[in-house]
Amino acid sequence: MSQATSQILPDADETAAGAGGPVIEVSHLNTHYGDRHVLKDLNLGIQPGEIMVIMGGSGSGKSTLLNHLLGLLHPTSGTVRILGRDISKLSQVELTKLRCKMGVAFQGGALFSSMTVGENIMLPLREHTKLDEQTMRIMARMKMEVVNLAGFEDLMPAELSGGMVKRAAFARAIIMDPKILFCDEPSAGLDPVVASAIDQLILNLRDAFGMTIVVVTHELESAFTIADRICVLDQGEIRIVGTPEEVRASEDARVQDLLNRRPEGQEQDPDAYLQRLTGGIH
Ligand SMILES: Nc1ncnc2c1ncn2[C@@H]1O[C@H](COP(=O)(O)OP(=O)(O)O)[C@@H](O)[C@H]1O
Ligand SMILES: [Mg+2]
Repeated sequence: MSQATSQILPDADETAAGAGGPVIEVSHLNTHYGDRHVLKDLNLGIQPGEIMVIMGGSGSGKSTLLNHLLGLLHPTSGTVRILGRDISKLSQVELTKLRCKMGVAFQGGALFSSMTVGENIMLPLREHTKLDEQTMRIMARMKMEVVNLAGFEDLMPAELSGGMVKRAAFARAIIMDPKILFCDEPSAGLDPVVASAIDQLILNLRDAFGMTIVVVTHELESAFTIADRICVLDQGEIRIVGTPEEVRASEDARVQDLLNRRPEGQEQDPDAYLQRLTGGIH
């Protein structure tokens, strides 16, 4: 954490997390939307400095879980502890303070189109700190260097390429030196070269800042490139949590379905399946 930010955000309330304990601890988490049981008894611990990728098909519950981790949803039962705090027990003020330690890079970037890139990146500092203008500008510039966007602060978001928008979203997400960074589909909609540069950026952030990073994605290649561990969600349940090697070696048919992208419930065509496995060379 930079000196400037650590002075504004004392870490006293984090001591409950204890040294070496999980940064995020989900315990017997259940969520219902009306009658619908969407997350089913999830248990998941995320360790300091690890990249946890949450993977799963459409409708498996990834966004719902992410919303819980951000304190935007209340569980029907079970708990979500972030940095040692049970987030459903926090007051609005405490939750806001905790959120300052969590950065989010939204899918699509979510930049304000009427502000320059630099202004967008500075926004959290304006909202949550009393830093003077020049300090904010310096901090924004530093983070833009980290994400390889140095010199682009005066452009408008519309002038950026898709990859640059993602980089700007990352710069804004890390402007407060968060302990935890959440990324929602970071490489969605990018061509493979740009997507792999974003993967590299995520790895660099973990290595340079020791951040704990939670990535939601359905991009298999990206998941296997960046993950320390992968959590596979399926119909609201965790099928497996493990290293990429463990997930690949899983004998769970649903996990293998996901890895091989076999559409659910569809009659399996052996020829098509073999073709997929061999990349069409047979
Ligand atoms: N606000 C909501 N109200 C009712 N059902 C919802 C709502 N949001 C999501 N769902 C349902 O919950 C399930 C999980 O959704 P979601 O977490 O968005 O999955 P994913 O992000 O993996 O695609 C889906 O079946 C979805 O239809
Ligand atoms: Mg989703």
